[in-house]
Amino acid sequence: MVKGRRLYEGKAKILYEGPEPGTLVVHFKDDATAFNGEKFEVIEGKGVLNNRISEFIFQRLMDMGIPTHFIKRLNMREQLVKKVEIIPLEVIVRNIAAGSIAKRLGLKEGEKLPRAIVEFCYKDDALGDPLVTEDQINAFGWASPQEMDDMIHIALRTNDILSGMFAAIGIRLVDFKLEFGREYAPDGMVRTVLADEISPDSCRLWDMKTDEKLDKDRFRRDLGGLVDAYTEVARRLGIKVGGGNDKGSGPKLVKG
Ligand code: TMP
Ligand code: ASP
Repeated sequence: MVKGRRLYEGKAKILYEGPEPGTLVVHFKDDATAFNGEKFEVIEGKGVLNNRISEFIFQRLMDMGIPTHFIKRLNMREQLVKKVEIIPLEVIVRNIAAGSIAKRLGLKEGEKLPRAIVEFCYKDDALGDPLVTEDQINAFGWASPQEMDDMIHIALRTNDILSGMFAAIGIRLVDFKLEFGREYAPDGMVRTVLADEISPDSCRLWDMKTDEKLDKDRFRRDLGGLVDAYTEVARRLGIKVGGGNDKGSGPKLVKG
């Protein structure tokens, strides 16, 4: 499959034109960033793991009727997706207090929240992706009221599906971040679909027995062992992990 022009390079991924109109190829890099790019490291093997874990999760969600941009994985680092117009919001779902909500509201990390909480942040690196209200989103036209309904509904359903999926493999889904896009059908219809990735880069995942962090907080908080943690998540999900990746070293995820 031939990919086209490079369209955009983000912090962890590169987007290329896809082989057919209306498609894109997403390339998962090994770059890790935190605090809006202030902290940076190349972690060999991370891209391969996220490509594979995100594929697995999107497939599972699509099996449960969630609309997404995902078409198929192409190789160890790339996947084919539908081209969508990204809604400029990060949608965060939280089950347990951690990270910014713990700081902001003075909660103890690990405290169970009274129910799942949905937050919206405006996607703007220069501003540090600030938390915004539904009224601001509506007033500035970042998303329509219908799109807000769609995003909240999909986010909560995704939370139910993924909380159960991770609980079954001894992992607590503490919180996660989603991004959504507008899919324009040829007949002019617009549909809100899940986009971007869902991986240990965009979730907090804690081992249920030990509370060990199996996510990007290993990098954010200088805990080390990120690739081992992501490999463990992949292994528990049933994604086969071998030795050596497509750059010659690190983990290799074998087609399975
Ligand atoms: P927070 O507690 O730092 O607000 O993060 C909440 C969740 O969102 C956590 O699972 C990590 C994820 N996240 C991203 O995927 N990208 C980001 O830029 C940030 C800040 C958080
Ligand atoms: N989006 C943040 C950054 O790249 C990463 C994070 O904290 O997840 O700086």
